[in-house]
Amino acid sequence: MRFRLKQPIALSFLRPPRATASFHSVSKQNSFGIAFDIDGVILGGKSPIGNSPIALKRLFHDSGALKIPFLFLTNGGGIPESRRAFELSELLGVNILPSQVLQGHSPFKNLLNRFENDLIVATGKGEPALVMSDYGFKRVISLDEYASYFVNLDPVAQYKRWTTLHESNGLKDFNELVSRSDLLSNKVQAAFVVSDPVDWGLDIQVLCDILTSGGLPGEKNGHQPPLYFAADDLQYQAAFPSERLGMGAFRIALESVFNSIHDKPLEYTSFGKPNPFVFQNAENILRNLLQASGPRNAIKETSNNELPSLKTLYMIGDNPLVDIKGAQQVHCIS
Ligand code: G3P
Ligand code: MG
Repeated sequence: MRFRLKQPIALSFLRPPRATASFHSVSKQNSFGIAFDIDGVILGGKSPIGNSPIALKRLFHDSGALKIPFLFLTNGGGIPESRRAFELSELLGVNILPSQVLQGHSPFKNLLNRFENDLIVATGKGEPALVMSDYGFKRVISLDEYASYFVNLDPVAQYKRWTTLHESNGLKDFNELVSRSDLLSNKVQAAFVVSDPVDWGLDIQVLCDILTSGGLPGEKNGHQPPLYFAADDLQYQAAFPSERLGMGAFRIALESVFNSIHDKPLEYTSFGKPNPFVFQNAENILRNLLQASGPRNAIKETSNNELPSLKTLYMIGDNPLVDIKGAQQVHCIS
């Protein structure tokens, strides 16, 4: 397996240390697709980087139809894909479909069969409970709201000078389904770190409470419920000039504390890049986009209703350990 790491040429809006890696080669067709990282490549915080809006426009026909299949493959998140697509469309001046947005937490929807009707807790910036409820989870509550039901759970709450606004969507349904007393007597079946945590102190305290007790803060030691992270980025590029601590840094902090107060090591699963299935999923979506945008006769050439293949898929990212390594782990060319 060979690996290519180079400066993009066609996508000249990218600047060092961004790099491209091609991660698949399956067809004799001359077509290609692109997976764009968001933070540090397309956006710096909420602002487009360089001429990214102009470059993205070149991937569309004048009619507005997609010319080159592309999507956003980010480890970030915190809002549903449909809302992120709307926000990206506004920021970048092109029409982005929800199916073109793959966030770190997008694979959580694959756990619906397991936890659809279970009490689960979600944390992170944005609206983590709304994200999970949008995927179909019926009894999800944000960690902030969950903590608020337990008297004196946060011993430093009175020193926090900010207020927490709870999500209005999703939680209404939750509150209709589960009363406060139910919440205080039912075990949490799983915890999800959906996006970058905001109040690390509270999150570590409450997650340790849930995970060491077997799902109910205040109880004695129990079997650790499953814990899922949307990604494991140690650092990422936001608007500040140097990198910011990401979800992977939070995971290390939580793991370190948990392992110091509990007799068994923390068990967890991390999603997002560089997991190979994330890139394989991206490939499937790009092939769908190609089919939707390609000429009809090209689609007819495919047998058994199979999706058209792409010769090369490009990942354009700024994090070699996440974006490039992930692409490298799938079928690479150079
Ligand atoms: O929180 C976002 C960060 O961890 C990575 O985002 O777009 O660079 O994959 P991105
Ligand atoms: Mg990035």
